[in-house]
Amino acid sequence: MSLDIVILAAGQGTRMRSALPKVLHPVAGRSMLGHVIHSAQQLAPVGIHVVVGHGADQVRQQAEGPGIGFALQAQQLGTGHAVAQALAALTADTVLILYGDVPLIQVGTLQRLLARVAANRIGLLTVELANPTGYGRIIRNAEGVVQAIVEQKDATPEQLAIREGNTGILAVPRAHLAKWLGQLSNHNAQGEYYLTDIIAMAVADGVEVATEQPEGTAEVQGANDRRQLADLERAYQQREAERLMAAGVTLRDPARFDVRGEVSVGRDVLIDINVILEGQVVIEDDVQIGPNCVIKDSTLKRGAVIKANSHLEGAVVGEGADAGPFARLRPGSELGAGAHVGNFVELKNARLGEGAKAGHLSYLGDADVGARSNIGAGTITCNYDGANKHRTVMGEDVFVGSNSALVAPVVLGAGATTAAGSTITQDVPAGQLGVARGRQRNVDGWKRPVKAPKP
Ligand code: UD1
Ligand code: CA
Repeated sequence: MSLDIVILAAGQGTRMRSALPKVLHPVAGRSMLGHVIHSAQQLAPVGIHVVVGHGADQVRQQAEGPGIGFALQAQQLGTGHAVAQALAALTADTVLILYGDVPLIQVGTLQRLLARVAANRIGLLTVELANPTGYGRIIRNAEGVVQAIVEQKDATPEQLAIREGNTGILAVPRAHLAKWLGQLSNHNAQGEYYLTDIIAMAVADGVEVATEQPEGTAEVQGANDRRQLADLERAYQQREAERLMAAGVTLRDPARFDVRGEVSVGRDVLIDINVILEGQVVIEDDVQIGPNCVIKDSTLKRGAVIKANSHLEGAVVGEGADAGPFARLRPGSELGAGAHVGNFVELKNARLGEGAKAGHLSYLGDADVGARSNIGAGTITCNYDGANKHRTVMGEDVFVGSNSALVAPVVLGAGATTAAGSTITQDVPAGQLGVARGRQRNVDGWKRPVKAPKP
């Protein structure tokens, strides 16, 4: 069975009160449409067809990618009209219809739905709702066989009492779909071409309608305003938190934890409150992350410890290494096994070798620090001359005295030492001490200034 997927994304989303088209609003750091496309791709369709209208150019630009086509619906005349705009581009046996503002739909649910489709059978995703207001209602006959969908605004009071709602998601044999879309009319309460009218047409043509349900209602919820967007965000975060806990992570509070990307985790990981994980994050066994950390596109190797209020981006933290509290590891930071970065230390494009330490208040940019070297408090690499960046290279077992300024390019050989307060502009050979500061002199009989008397 070959598959085409149509994603409806032409609506305006007035209630978002936003310059951004509705489907581009993010949930967990990715646009709603991006989530739907990501799920669609996992079904390996021959084509993904996004129906665009409001903000079409912007949506196209954001959603572009291999295997993704666009159909323009210049005027929003209804969901049936929207699907019809994509019809000419469809080639597969089966067409699955998804919505750009229903981002949490699960691949597993769609697979179950697709398993129900056949040449003479539709798969329809329905949901039992405590409050079905606004949803199309699923009309079944006495035998429980689906007969039609009636929209809220067209429903009789008896029909409104039905709690089985239409999610809007359905899978249809393409040949039938083409025929039925051609027969739609807009003689209804909203004056729209309803996609939902094809259900009654199917029944009339002797095509069976098989229904499936999602695992939870969040999967099929859309976002029309920022309140609903926040609900989707929470539902997503709760799902991610549960996935990580199931994999062996202790979350101090699953309600105060956010994932905005793809996270892989080992076992016995401990994550304290208010941690945000962004982009691609790899967390190995026995890692501990303290409260209020933001960790983006980074790898934390086995047993690494990130203490409170640290900010990592593009960093690799080696086995048993630790950073923070208040550490900032910028792109290209690499801590070797057992290395230590303490408070108010910033690294950028810098490597600390095995067991190396930078305990306090330092900036290390474009630097290589050899194993077991110690960087004193207040040390900075002067890596930028206003035009170009230069490297600072240290061998193993170097001891950099507190408040040293290392003016790059500069090399400190293995076992070299710099005296506290030095401005090091020349290489220090292995084993030698570099001193570059004024000598101290003491003034005997020094009188402190006194305040001038008030006039
Ligand atoms: C639709 C269904 C309803 C279902 C509900 C679930 C129809 C007629 N009704 O109703 O049975 O319970 O979804 O949420 O299908 N869109 C376009 N072009 C259009 C119209 C809509 O792209 O011309 C897109 C919208 O941007 C939106 C989606 O289709 O993403 C659904 O449209 P909307 O008007 O919200 O449908 P509902 O009235 O909620
Ligand atoms: Ca509508």
